[in-house]
Amino acid sequence: MTKAAKKLFIRTFGCQMNVYDAERMSEALCEAGYSSVDTPEAADLIVLNTCHIREKAAEKVYSELGRLKQLKSARAGEGRATTIAVAGCVAQAEGREILSRAPVVDLVVGPQSYHRIADLIARAEKGERDIIDIEFPEGDKFKHLPARPARARAASAFLTVQEGCDKFCTFCVVPYTRGVEYSRSVSEIVEEAERLAASGVREITLLGQNVNAYHGEGENGAPSTLAALLRRLAQIPSIGRLRYTTSHPRDMSADLIALHGDEEKVMPYLHLPFQAGSDRILAAMNRRHTRADYLDLVKRIRLARPDIALSTDIIVGFPGESDAEFEATLEVVKQAEFAQAYSFKFSPRPGTPAAAMENQVADEIKSARLQELQALLRAQQSAFNGACAGRKMPVLFERSGRRPGQLVGRSPYLQAVHAEGPETLIGEIIEVDIIGAGPNSLEGNIVSASNTRRIGGRAGPGDAGGRVEAR
Ligand code: SAH
Ligand code: SF4
Ligand code: F3S
Repeated sequence: MTKAAKKLFIRTFGCQMNVYDAERMSEALCEAGYSSVDTPEAADLIVLNTCHIREKAAEKVYSELGRLKQLKSARAGEGRATTIAVAGCVAQAEGREILSRAPVVDLVVGPQSYHRIADLIARAEKGERDIIDIEFPEGDKFKHLPARPARARAASAFLTVQEGCDKFCTFCVVPYTRGVEYSRSVSEIVEEAERLAASGVREITLLGQNVNAYHGEGENGAPSTLAALLRRLAQIPSIGRLRYTTSHPRDMSADLIALHGDEEKVMPYLHLPFQAGSDRILAAMNRRHTRADYLDLVKRIRLARPDIALSTDIIVGFPGESDAEFEATLEVVKQAEFAQAYSFKFSPRPGTPAAAMENQVADEIKSARLQELQALLRAQQSAFNGACAGRKMPVLFERSGRRPGQLVGRSPYLQAVHAEGPETLIGEIIEVDIIGAGPNSLEGNIVSASNTRRIGGRAGPGDAGGRVEAR
C-alpha cells in the first residue's frame, strides 16, 4: 500500500481541548500522507484521544481497546495492518501501564508530544514496538505543528491559547496530565485566528484549562491579558463572535468583566465552575475561593452584562461532604441562577490528594445528591430558555438539522436554535424571532428573507473581508 492511501480515524473523548487537539493531530497526519475516514473499520491508523478526568472516562478507553483488538485481528486476517495509538490524558497519566494492560496498542503519545506524532507513527509502522512519548518538553509544541491549512471549516472553531494548570485542586488530574500552565503568544494566536477566519470560521472559542489566567507575550513584547487578547481578535473583520472557556473564579479580572459590557463580539455566556457551596469543602478542594467570593463575582459580572448566561461545574460527594454542606451547594445554585451546568459525582483519581482522603462518601449518597442537584439545574435551564421565547436574537447557523429544510445554529447564550431556512445561511449570523423554548433548545423563525439582516458575513468575491454591523 502506498503512503498516500493510508487512512486515519481519531476517536475523541473528554473536553473541548481534546477536540482541538484531534484537529491538530489530524492536520499533522494528513500532511504526512493520511486521509481521514469516518469509521475505525476503514482505518489503517486508529488514534484514541483519551480523557482521564473521572474513572468512567478513563475506563472507556479500555473497553474501546477491547473492541479494537478484535478489529485488528480481523483486519490482519485480511492481510491489512492496523496501527493503534493512545493519545490524550490517559496516555499521559498511565504511560507504560497502557502497553502492559492492552498489548494491542502500538504507541502511547501524551498531549505535549503531538508535534512528533507523525514521526512516532512512522516508527510504529516500520515495526518498532512499545513506543512511548510522554515527555513534557520545554517550549511551545504549537510552534512545531504545521500551520492550520486553508480548507473549508465549520462556522465555529476552537483555538487553544493556554494549556496546563498550576492550581492543583485536590480532586483533579489536569495539572498532572497537561503539565504546568503555558500561554501562547498573541501573535501566534492572531495568525491562527486569521487562518481560521479565511477558512470560513465566524466564531472562535478560545480554550485553556484556566483560560482567564492567560498571560502570553503581547505584540509589544509585554505579557498580555485574556481581555487584551480578545480585544485584539475582535479586530478580525469576519470573526463575528468570540467565546472563551474554562475560567477560574480567582482569575476573573476587572478588565475581563468589563469586556463583557463593552465588546459586542464577546458573547454573553460564561462558564465559571464553582464546584461546591461550602467554604470548608472549597478549602479542602484547594479552590482558593469562598462561596461569598463566587457570589460577589457573579454580581459584578451581571452588573457589567445583565443578560449574561452563566454556566458552571459542580462536584457532589467530595470526601467528608455532609448533608448540610451539600445544601450549601444547592443554595449557591439558587442564588447564582445558571443557564446551564455540568455536575458530577466525585471520582477518586489515582495520585490526587482527595483520592487518599478519609470519609469518602458512599455512592448511593452521591447519586441521591446528584439527582437532587440536577433537578434544580434542569429547572433553571428551562426557566432561562423559557424567558427567551418572544425575543429576537442573532443566531449563527452551523449546520442542517434532522428535518429537511431545517437549520441548526447557536444563540448568543450558546443555546441550540432550530429554524427553517436555506442552506446558504449556514455560516451566517442572522436575526431570528424565538417562538418556542424546550429544556435543551429554542425554536425560531428567521426574520423574513427579504428583510433578513445579515450580521457580518463571510468574505465574498470583491469583498475585502466582511463587515460586522452593530447589534
Ligand atoms: N479547568 C477546568 C475544568 C477541569 S475538568 C476548571 O478548572 O474548571 C472539568 C470538570 O470536571 C471540573 O470543573 C470538575 O467539576 C470535574 N472534575 C474534575 N475532577 C473530578 C473528579 N475527580 N471527580 C468528579 N469530577 C471532577
Ligand atoms: Fe483541575 Fe482545578 Fe486546574 Fe481546573 S483549576 S484544571 S479543576 S486543578
Ligand atoms: Fe479530560 Fe484531559 Fe480534558 S483529563 S477533561 S481530556 S484536559
